[in-house]
Amino acid sequence: MDLHELKTSLHDCQRCRLSSGRIQVVFGTGNPQADIMFVGEAPGFYEDRQGEPFVGAAGKLLTELLQSVGLSRADIFIANVIKCRPPNNRDPLPDEIETCKPFLLQQIELIKPKLVCTLGNFATQTLLEKKVGITKVRGQVIQLANFIVFPLLHPAAALHQGNLRGPLMEDFKKLKSVLDGMNQSPSLSHQASPPSPKQAQQPEQDSPAESPTQMSLF
Ligand code: URA
Repeated sequence: MDLHELKTSLHDCQRCRLSSGRIQVVFGTGNPQADIMFVGEAPGFYEDRQGEPFVGAAGKLLTELLQSVGLSRADIFIANVIKCRPPNNRDPLPDEIETCKPFLLQQIELIKPKLVCTLGNFATQTLLEKKVGITKVRGQVIQLANFIVFPLLHPAAALHQGNLRGPLMEDFKKLKSVLDGMNQSPSLSHQASPPSPKQAQQPEQDSPAESPTQMSLF
């Protein structure tokens, strides 16, 4: 199955209760061969209307932050853990995450990114399969079996809490140094086998985020 076929197969998904309140499934957009993926939480009001992730206020901020590190949305692939809008933008429920997670993993398997940037708690915990707080793990380079997870604060959090804007910009500065490291090692090629998040290294939880440049991952 390719990415387009996966998208088509989910077009009329009825696997969970969110199907009854959505306008459409928001599969994700961008470069299907991207080296870098961004994963958010779930579509909101505007995403549900337009069928694209991150097109509202948080999306505008994300686009600006991407530009600040030399990325355009066309360079990357953006998806969410949950493909349908939860009512009134409530948090996704555990069974909704479990139902939708296989499709995020399939997207990752098909795109084969080197780096997956998780935005906020839900995406980070889903891919690490661990209940770690984003404020503890943000800015850490976490090597899974087939790709690297780099957790960042969610742009929506910075819109709601102005004091998180600085930390979010710090996360993107660290991301820039990770990207610079990747560009210096063009030999790092796509991995062929499916991702196995179960083999994740334990992220640092109690110490400050380690500088990604010290981790010689590339
Ligand atoms: N927030 C998300 O996590 N995803 C979107 O697509 C939009 C806002």
